[in-house]
Amino acid sequence: MLVTYGSSCEALARASAKLAGLKVLETSRRRFPDGEQYVRVGGDMRGEDVVVFQSLGLNPDSYLVEYALIADAIRGAGCRSVTAVVPYLAYARQDKRFKAGEPLSAKAFARLIERAGTDRIITVDMHLHRFSKISEVFDIPAVNVSAMPLIAEHYAKAHRGESVVVVGPDKESEQWAKQVADALSSRLYILEKERLGDRDVRVSDVSFGKGSRALLVDDMISTGKTLLEVVSKLKAQGFSPIDAAATHSLLVEGAYARLTEAGISELISTDTVPGQHSTVSVAPILARAIAP
Ligand code: R5P
Repeated sequence: MLVTYGSSCEALARASAKLAGLKVLETSRRRFPDGEQYVRVGGDMRGEDVVVFQSLGLNPDSYLVEYALIADAIRGAGCRSVTAVVPYLAYARQDKRFKAGEPLSAKAFARLIERAGTDRIITVDMHLHRFSKISEVFDIPAVNVSAMPLIAEHYAKAHRGESVVVVGPDKESEQWAKQVADALSSRLYILEKERLGDRDVRVSDVSFGKGSRALLVDDMISTGKTLLEVVSKLKAQGFSPIDAAATHSLLVEGAYARLTEAGISELISTDTVPGQHSTVSVAPILARAIAP
């Protein structure tokens, strides 16, 4: 088994390969003058099972094309199988045709990954809401691992002995927040969220407790509006300090600045979408997931 990588997560691919004791095939890339992508994968991969790391955050369409080119390159070079490790899987939130004429993006995107020549996919904390299992979205063998145990371990080390309540902003966040609450032996509260637009949500009032430390847990932060709403509700009830943890930090349109201005003390996130808040690496769980 060999590991290779797209441009979105080279460091995570190397770290996971090192932990799994696997060799890395180097890739190179450039853009043609008209913007099309070119990739090349070096080394001998004939007859090998090759694992391709490519995260699909922030620039998913371009990263998907790059992934498809890599998958074709390694197929053409005679590999035996292609496993996609997609630490952040984009397009999963459109898991329903909400209005006539809309795509079922989660499934359409899955088909694109499969048809690029993928035999198996591994991802981290996929946004599962109306689909309850990854196997309902993909037709190929698919594994969804969770970063929440690593996030909880990181938080527990930093706040040993402190009392904290764990809060999830909406129903689907329970699957992630519960793992953290259980690991920290904390109380768990799940709020209700109504999405009013791409950048606008309404969250139910907080009717529990007062005053203690709170940790908001979600799978992802995009514009940060969901967490901002929860922070304002918790502040009104006197919770302090307020921390946040999410596997995938996209943090678009100045989200981090808005969250800190609103009073988030600490933001914990992973390297599924690498950035300055990637304090926890998912390399150990991915190394275990790819191991032969
Ligand atoms: C959707 O339900 C997700 O779990 C997140 O809560 C959501 O995508 C966060 O988006 P934003 O940060 O833009 O509110």
